Amino acid sequence: MEVYDAILSRRSIRRFTQQPVSRNTLEKLVNAARLAPSAANLQPMEYVIVDDKKICAQLFETIGWAAYLKPSWSPIKEERPTAYIVLLIRNKKNNYALRDVSLAAAHILLTAEEEQLGSCILCKIDKEKIKDILGIPDGMMVDSMIALGYKAEHPVIEELTDSVKYWRDGNEILHVPKRNLKDILHINTY
Ligand SMILES: Cc1cc2nc3c(=O)[nH]c(=O)nc-3n(C[C@H](O)[C@H](O)[C@H](O)COP(=O)(O)O)c2cc1C
Repeated sequence: MEVYDAILSRRSIRRFTQQPVSRNTLEKLVNAARLAPSAANLQPMEYVIVDDKKICAQLFETIGWAAYLKPSWSPIKEERPTAYIVLLIRNKKNNYALRDVSLAAAHILLTAEEEQLGSCILCKIDKEKIKDILGIPDGMMVDSMIALGYKAEHPVIEELTDSVKYWRDGNEILHVPKRNLKDILHINTY
């Protein structure tokens, strides 16, 4: 798959089949993160792969899903993520760590798409609880998690008109508004 095709087809996936993701594939995703650009090449991130069913169930309880969906929604048991990658940042002053971790996350999301996996980056999470569950040492902070698994939904993009809020239609398809290129692109001058 070409990178641009992965960019076009990737959507945040929040419903998954229960087919497990191989450990090799999960390690490939972290390897893609490892090779992301890093300010001053400081590489302040570390990663925890979680594919153990019991730990996945504990992590699931720490997640806030799809805040725009009303009434509040989270995946049913049969559609939960089958794996997670937890992104950690070393607790040391580094003004660019958040940019680094975002780029690393993008590498994971696009590599997941190439592997035909669904993914969803999650920041609305209980970071302290996750630290406890995973035994993360004090020198490291939890930045975010990426939920992973094979896709059980296929969201579509819509041209953004009045609202940025995604929605589900009567057939349970998620629609995700995106700004139009002509509304955000400036050439030579603003
Ligand atoms: C920094 C960041 C944090 C996010 N946190 C959550 C989250 O906690 N829960 C969730 O369901 N989705 C989360 N998302 C996914 C966004 O809702 C999603 O990217 C957005 O609706 C656009 O959809 P798309 O990823 O399919 O293009 C997050 C995305 C980003 C970039």
